[in-house]
Parts: sequence; structure tokens; C-alpha cells
Amino acid sequence: SPDKTWSERFSEPVSELVKRYTASVFFDQRLARHDIKGSLAHARMLARQGIIPAADLAAIEDGMATILAEIERAEFVWNLDDEDVHLNIEKRLTALIGDAGKRLHTGRSRNDQVATDIRLWLRDEIDNVIGLIGDFQQSLLDLAERHADTPMPGFTHLQVAQPVTFGHHLMAYVEMSRRDKERLLDARKRVNRLPLGAAALAGTSYPIDRESVARELGFDEVCENSLDAVSDRDFAIEFTAACALLMTHLSRLSEELILWMSPRFGFIDLPDRYCTGSSIMPQKKNPDVPELVRGKTGRVNGHLVGLLTLMKSQPLAYNKDNQEDKEPLFDTVDTVVDTLRIYADMLAGLSVKEHGVRTANMRAALTQGYATATDLADYLVKKGLPFRDAHGAVAKAVRIAETSGRDLPQLSLEELREFSPLIEADVFEVLTVEGSLASRDHVGGTAPAQVRAAIRRARERR
Ligand code: ARG
Repeated sequence: SPDKTWSERFSEPVSELVKRYTASVFFDQRLARHDIKGSLAHARMLARQGIIPAADLAAIEDGMATILAEIERAEFVWNLDDEDVHLNIEKRLTALIGDAGKRLHTGRSRNDQVATDIRLWLRDEIDNVIGLIGDFQQSLLDLAERHADTPMPGFTHLQVAQPVTFGHHLMAYVEMSRRDKERLLDARKRVNRLPLGAAALAGTSYPIDRESVARELGFDEVCENSLDAVSDRDFAIEFTAACALLMTHLSRLSEELILWMSPRFGFIDLPDRYCTGSSIMPQKKNPDVPELVRGKTGRVNGHLVGLLTLMKSQPLAYNKDNQEDKEPLFDTVDTVVDTLRIYADMLAGLSVKEHGVRTANMRAALTQGYATATDLADYLVKKGLPFRDAHGAVAKAVRIAETSGRDLPQLSLEELREFSPLIEADVFEVLTVEGSLASRDHVGGTAPAQVRAAIRRARERR
């Protein structure tokens, strides 16, 4: 005879293929601890409300303690025949304590149960990811502080544009990750609502007390509509969207590390433990880790599209489609967690003396791109020339410098005065990298004093 929990209605067992196709236990067992936590809160409410006897609750609590210990010791036997994490645990509970185990599911469905489990689990993971963003920011801030004065070229169109400090450049990523954290904190509010009590879709006829379950499990409120409670996965999509952006930011930083490490730039050298060699080219030291981060960003972006597509056009309320929410969500968390951990350590490695940041190459690159041309134009404006005319005069100066293979500060005063008689000997101060940096002295600017202030504010916020 059929042997599944719900199989009395059926005349034959499901085929082996269908059993494997519909089972989720080999991936959703990750929810086990949260499933038990949710079940215990549900059982306590049932007992408080007089829906199950106090003795049954005591048996359920004992049984669940045993199961939890079995799971911790990896002795729990997960069984494909029992489909998912919920039925596996319920079946084991009943084997341990008998009828009391069979009463646990009173007034509940796997539909509101699984929605509760994922929210409980995701809430913990969000808190973990937010902590890891903090570690990543810590590494960025430490490195930025060490290089608040280190000049490097800022780029537009990947061409040398104006001098910035390396610290200022790094602080751009502190800002990005600050928004990533804000987005996760905001998504957390909508994760932290309790579906339990919605039962299959319509609620239940037992005199349940949802608010007390919400309180016990630390939810801010209960989901207001039973149909929505069992079918909503927006919270998972929002979380994944926040992670896709976070990974997108890390992919930009990765791309920059890869460029900077290329001998053409030579701005940094990553520690050996983050690189690999070539099996054929003995000279190679490849930035595999940032390249993988760049690649794994595609994976998380894919999960976002996967989840959106999963929800699209689903009629209310619960559909089995939703079982497919778990793997993309789990993989998103695993990818983001590992990537943030690796990044925090890899950036710390950039302060290693023999590898690390190659400040001389950064400075050399600055002399090859007329990085202070804007400063020369601003100099002329301050002497009374309209900006557009100043722009034109400097453009001519750059052309002459370029044809004679020199940088702007290498032109003589006489040569410079041919472009504008307003140019005097003090021009060479603004043509220096240090002069250019120090002049951008406002909130958000690259003047070293401003970079230090930004680092201080960021540290206070954390
Ligand atoms: N394993 C299912 C899921 O992940 C649990 C809910 C199943 N409910 C059902 N009626 N088939 O969504």
C-alpha cells in the first residue's frame, strides 16, 4: 500500500522518478533548525490555546530536542520517501513519541510552514551578510586610510582623467557597500513577518493565536492575508536583488583589481594566496579570485531572473513551483558569504610590503595623461579668462606637449605663455599632482584632508 504521509487517498505509490523529481529533502534539509524552531513555537501556541494537551507539548519538546541532537551529530537519516525537510522531521518525531507527534500539524499546513522556515532562515542569513559587509568595509577603510594621500590617476573612458588619491578611489566602494547594507536592512523588514496561521491558504478553524507565535519567533508582525502569506516570495526576490547589486559592485572592484594587477598598469600585486599560475607559461601569476568574483556575479544575477520568472503569472495561492525558490536562494547566500569573506582578507593582503600597492607606478601613470590639464584651465579662469576660452588654450598646450613627447609641467614658462599671457611663474604649483589633489577640498572631493574626514565619518557610522 502507498506509504507517504498524504497517501491514503491514492491507489498506487508514486513512481520512483516522480518521487525523486518532487522531493526537496536533499536541499531543503538546510532549513531543519528553523523548521524545528517554528514547530516548537506552533506547538506551544496550540497548548496555550488548549488545542493540544500539555502532555503532548512536553513530548513534542522532548522529541524535537532528540531530533536536533541527531541533526547536530549528523546522525539524522534523511529519507527521500518523506519528500521534504518538514515531513522527514514530523515522521521521525512520530516514531519517537507516537500520537503526540501526529498532533503537531494541527491547524498548520506545509504551505505556511515552509514560508515560515525560509523567512526564519533568511533573517539569520541577512544578519550574517550584513556583518560580513562590515568586515569588508573595515578592510577597505584600513587600506583607504593608509593611502589617503597616495596619488593615482582617476579614469574616465579608461583614460587618465584627473589625479585622485587611492584612498579616495577605495572610499567609492565604501559608499556602494553602505547602500548595499541599507537595501538588505530594508528587505529584512518585509522578511520579518509571520506566515504561520495561514495554513494551506484560507486560515484555520482552530482558535489559534498568531501574534503570540510571532512574538516568540521574533517576527515584527503577522502576514495579514492568508492567501498572500503562503504564496508571497517577494521577500526572496528583494533579497536576491540586493545581493545581485552587491555582487555587481564587487565585480566592478574585481575588474579594477584585474586591470591594476596587469603589468600594463602595475598598480597592485595581489598576495600569492589569491593567484594561480599557468600550466604552460612559467611567468604567469593570474588574478583568478577577482576573475571568479566577476564570473559569480553572473550566477547571482541569474538567480534573480530565475526567481522573478518562477513567480511570474503564478495564480494564488501556493503552487509547487515555489519549491524551486530554495536552490537559487541558498546559492545566492553561499556565493555572497564566500565572496565577502574572501574580499575582506584579499584587501588586507594589499598592505603587504613586497606585494601590495605599487605607489610609484600609480604616480608614473599620472605623468602620462595630462592629468592636471583641468587644473591649468581652472588657473586661467581664476585669472579672469572665461572657462570655454581657458579650455581651448589648454587643449592647444596639450597638443604641443603631446607632439614633443612631454607632460604639461615640462613645458617652459615661455612656451606656456604663448597659449595665454595670463600664465605666470606660479602656474607650476597647480600643475603638480599634490597641488591638484589639495585643491579639491570640499565634502566628497579627493583632497587628502577630505578623504580622511570621509573615512572618519564612515567609521563612526559602522
Ligand atoms: N517542500 C514544499 C516547498 O518547498 C513544501 C510545501 C509543499 N506543499 C504542498 N502542498 N505540496 O514549497
